[in-house]
Amino acid sequence: MIKNQTIAVIGAGHMAGALIGGMVRSKLLAPKSITASRRSSEALAELQKKWGVRTTVDNRKAAAEADVVMLAVKPQMARKVMEELAGTIRRDQLVISVMAGVTSAAINKALRVDCPVVRAMPNTPCLVDAGATALAAGAHATDADLARAEAVFKSVGLVVALPESALDAATGLSGSGPVYIYMVIEAMIDGGVKMGIPRAIAAKLAAQTVYGAAKLVLETGKHPAILKDEVTTPGGTAINAIHVLESRGLRSVLIDGIVAATNRSQELSKLLEQ
Ligand SMILES: NC(=O)c1ccc[n+]([C@@H]2O[C@H](COP(=O)([O-])OP(=O)(O)OC[C@H]3O[C@@H](n4cnc5c(N)ncnc54)[C@H](OP(=O)(O)O)[C@@H]3O)[C@@H](O)[C@H]2O)c1
Repeated sequence: MIKNQTIAVIGAGHMAGALIGGMVRSKLLAPKSITASRRSSEALAELQKKWGVRTTVDNRKAAAEADVVMLAVKPQMARKVMEELAGTIRRDQLVISVMAGVTSAAINKALRVDCPVVRAMPNTPCLVDAGATALAAGAHATDADLARAEAVFKSVGLVVALPESALDAATGLSGSGPVYIYMVIEAMIDGGVKMGIPRAIAAKLAAQTVYGAAKLVLETGKHPAILKDEVTTPGGTAINAIHVLESRGLRSVLIDGIVAATNRSQELSKLLEQ
């Protein structure tokens, strides 16, 4: 259990800030059990004011005193920060990494310790407690370690566990996924505007429609095809739209997009290994 433990968040930027907010709001951890670290003192003062967490610009100090160390700097900074923390992180500490493309083996190697590592691929809806996070346990992580990481990300949304080899695919599906849906929403708004609905109202209708459809999938557990068939009246409006969307390849284009993002994630991971 992560309750009564302490966590150091190294690289307390956008993603980590959302997670800090989730942990505090859900009372998973008391603010004093969380230490945020980054270089900007001004940004740390803001985090301290907003969430009441401890702050420091000293990554080593933050990491040394914590049960769990979250690495949340940009992947390009990963090597520098892990070199700094090598010798500080102990075998009994859990490392949770949200750094895209940095493998658990690379983390153990750079930190020069066989500590448990759990990798996470969250997405930006974590900011509004509607995130989707894929977790993967590294070679030294136990089910109990995975459960501790799960508790952190559950405070900002849905969590699933995958083998580490599938994290690039999760990056392509859910990590980058909000972007595809923003494009869908934008296009639906334009469709509404084209057919005479004022833009501000079209925006509300489009976003709520996506939100509501997603909620129905999650809450009923029904296959999306069944939900689609249920609202497709013979000779009605929806079937006419379906025919156009199928003939223009809506499904194939989304599948191709996820394949392209996954392939790019794999390429970037290889670059970071060099
Ligand atoms: N955004 C997403 O949708 C998303 C999704 C999944 C995964 N991720 C992963 O989350 C990580 C962070 O992304 P982000 O969007 O939150 O980026 P971000 O806002 O730039 O956060 C990274 C933070 O690291 C800090 N930092 C840089 N160098 C540092 C150092 N030497 N020591 C301590 N802190 C340092 C920066 O603050 P200072 O300049 O003040 O040091 C910055 O606030 C990335 O690895 C990314 O792959 C992001």
